[in-house]
Amino acid sequence: MTQSALSIQELTVRAGDALQIALQELDRTGSGFLVVVDATGKLVGVVTDGDIRRALLRGIAIGEPVSAAMQENYKALSIDAAPEAINAALDTKITFIPLIDAVGRPVDYASVNRHRRYPVMEPVLDGNEMEYVQECIRTGWISSQGRFVALFESMLAKFHDVPHALAVSNGTVALHLALVSLGIGPGDEVIVPDLTFAATANVVIYTGAKPVFVDADPQSWNMDPEKVEAAITPRTKALMPVHLYGNPCDMDALCAIARRHGLKLVEDAAESLGASWKGKFTGAFGDAGCFSFFGNKTLTTGEGGVILFKDAALYERARMLRDHGMSKQKRYWHLDIGYNYRLTNLQAAVGVAQMERVEHILERKRAVARHYCEILAGTRGITLPPAHPDADPIFWLFTILIDPNIGITRDELAERLLRNGIETRPVFFPMHEMPPYQQYCAEAVFPVSKSLSRMGLSLPSAATLTNSDIENVVANIKAILDVRQMAEVARITLDS
Ligand SMILES: Cc1ncc(COP(=O)(O)O)c(C=O)c1O
Repeated sequence: MTQSALSIQELTVRAGDALQIALQELDRTGSGFLVVVDATGKLVGVVTDGDIRRALLRGIAIGEPVSAAMQENYKALSIDAAPEAINAALDTKITFIPLIDAVGRPVDYASVNRHRRYPVMEPVLDGNEMEYVQECIRTGWISSQGRFVALFESMLAKFHDVPHALAVSNGTVALHLALVSLGIGPGDEVIVPDLTFAATANVVIYTGAKPVFVDADPQSWNMDPEKVEAAITPRTKALMPVHLYGNPCDMDALCAIARRHGLKLVEDAAESLGASWKGKFTGAFGDAGCFSFFGNKTLTTGEGGVILFKDAALYERARMLRDHGMSKQKRYWHLDIGYNYRLTNLQAAVGVAQMERVEHILERKRAVARHYCEILAGTRGITLPPAHPDADPIFWLFTILIDPNIGITRDELAERLLRNGIETRPVFFPMHEMPPYQQYCAEAVFPVSKSLSRMGLSLPSAATLTNSDIENVVANIKAILDVRQMAEVARITLDS
């Protein structure tokens, strides 16, 4: 979704306009600032939501003119100023500069947000990615044979301290292949969370088994272990927990349930590479642990996936099924109806370069989440992501909850942030609400996943974000929430 930046006209008020008009414009545009002009259209000041708040606190009434609250000596530059001069003038304090014509009329503006877009995620590709991909092309090893596939697999196995890793074409087929290798099929049931990406449930349906959806736990946002146990029937064959947005599930509880009921455990760790529960990485607990290396993931191969296995026989079966079910000993002799789920050497080359930088990338991800937590803590209307003493999350996407009673909806906040160049992402829709999955849900109710889905918003989370980027994102959120609260107060004051 893209949206053009706001024009200077949309950001202009007259010095004689009432403060209430300025507040409404600040609220409508979500810009955090407005330029103020006199009757002839000349720039006479700027006004921010902070200026209005301070004016109200000084006792200035909401019906008084904007000139009573504006900053008169605000820096402006000529529309002809060199881009370098404009860039040099913008910083974390001065995030907006009006650009004026020869007679002093504002004709455009420069802002930090206009110069920088904040995507929800972007890959970090500043290691050996280019060199290794070039090697594939130079040597002709561009398909699924070549040194990088095995190397990528061994790096992942070593990192997770498991004996086997199998590279596949994406995270979805990783999950599918894990289920098929475990013998899951028609007549079986697999327990999955209601709040997840659709692939988790789709792969169960591909096998002919039935997905059984379980509501989220309000603390962890992951599937609730108590409700998992209640959903087990004689047909249940496997649990497939998802470490949502990189926050580990309670693996003590889930492993104990799987053991008690003799169930297989397939971890959907697509979003949680690098996250751990009691010091053990997610993906390393189950019979199989599945990862995605899609372009928006913490580590990427463009498209790609990996399955971790502890059991050698299971790994060998998955490997055979990945390669069309072909015998390892006898070429073109097929032992089963398999698939082509292979990863290419080109993709694995990117993956190897990513794995070389894994510690650095994970440390950056942790730092991003830490800084968000520090500066968002205590903000009225915002709930920070889950924190459990036994969990070390990686927050693939740093996701917050927006209180629906704060005066602005989650979607309105997202729209206003986007106008300022800040992309966000709503939390997944609960599976039970979407038509293809309703047939599997019968009368089950999912109040927690439903409310998390309505309130959750993922913020820019890339490892490339600097502290000042994060401060800018948070300043925008706070300004939008503040101005909405002030507009609400002004409306009540004027109405009464
Ligand atoms: C929880 C979850 N499971 C599975 C997948 C599927 O991974 P891929 O997109 O690599 O097929 C994703 C991907 O985004 C995911 O978030």
